[in-house]
Amino acid sequence: MFKRASLFAMAAFTLASSLGAQAAHRDSISMRPFGETTDGKSVSLYTLTNRNGVVAKITNYGGIVTSISVPDRKGNLGDVVLGFDNLASYIKSSPYFGALIGRYANRIAKGRYTLDGKKYQLFINNGVNSLHGGKQGFDKVVWTAHEVHPANGVGLSLSYVSKNAEEHYPGNLTTNVVYTLGNDNSLRIDYRATTDRDTILNLTSHSYFNLNGAGHGSILDNILTINADRFTPIDKTMIPTGKLESVFGTPFDFTRPTAIGKRIYEKNQQLIFAGGYDDNWVLNRHGSGLQFAARVYAPKTGRIMTVYTTEPGIQFYTGNFLDGTIIGKGGITYKKHDALALETQHFPDSPNHPNFPTTELKPGHTYRQSTIYKFSVR
Ligand code: GLA
Repeated sequence: MFKRASLFAMAAFTLASSLGAQAAHRDSISMRPFGETTDGKSVSLYTLTNRNGVVAKITNYGGIVTSISVPDRKGNLGDVVLGFDNLASYIKSSPYFGALIGRYANRIAKGRYTLDGKKYQLFINNGVNSLHGGKQGFDKVVWTAHEVHPANGVGLSLSYVSKNAEEHYPGNLTTNVVYTLGNDNSLRIDYRATTDRDTILNLTSHSYFNLNGAGHGSILDNILTINADRFTPIDKTMIPTGKLESVFGTPFDFTRPTAIGKRIYEKNQQLIFAGGYDDNWVLNRHGSGLQFAARVYAPKTGRIMTVYTTEPGIQFYTGNFLDGTIIGKGGITYKKHDALALETQHFPDSPNHPNFPTTELKPGHTYRQSTIYKFSVR
């Protein structure tokens, strides 16, 4: 019996070694305390590891992805998202590093919208506008977490019930977000939400990626492709004008792989308003389901990130507001253009633009969104 077991173990070992680094790990999830919120709620940090040794760390405070370690072309793991080393820094002040964003990701003009004939006023936290859910959005609440074990990886399920009128959004809204770290080196995010009253909703996640490694300088040499022929130009307060404009012949054309820094300093009104790229692209889509949205390639390290989504839009942001004052992981300061965000979502300010796809959610319907960030190398 013993003999047979050890033979079996040997065979398993040989198989594992022949698969090399690919099979060096078992997918797993572990949890440790990450601290407390100012009102005394305890918060955890979950470490998800896939079979290739890729690691994603996620906290149930704001559903924040605090790190994603993926291999470069030599196989060296590096953390590709900006963030902080501790919970206190996230709580004190964070430009939404890695967070789940809701109820309404992106801007709503002057924080005003009308729903079923009733006027609502949101908290103004970004110039004259409301940004990313207001004063205490989904990035600043504690989510209920539990581990999930899908066939192809390992996951963390996060739930949050936002009460009727919270941040001046109607309806008791129940949201569930499942992060899955796949054994194909993808981080998949599945969102679902239901409400008991008509409401508006636009969820996203806000990782600041640097495929050369967080704190390893600028992303301007990264090569970007966005599967979009049009974008939604903004005014000087960064609210969409309502037009869907062609990207062709403009610095917004990323239909072919182009270095992010190639045209970022052009005297283009849009780039000047935002201090770089910070616009919503209208994704080329055919039918429903997950579709290719964008790809980033970092020539120095060979890392590639490919984004697939069910959403109609993607906000591409080049970390224009990082000004060197934020001290991040490992004591490193983050400067302008040291990261990029690719936030899959509905268009900004949709409730005030009837020509944009609707962001209304009604009782009896389920909001669903899925997005995949897949990592590979070249
Ligand atoms: C989004 C916005 C940016 C900025 C960041 C957070 O990407 O579009 O303008 O507000 O969030 O700093």
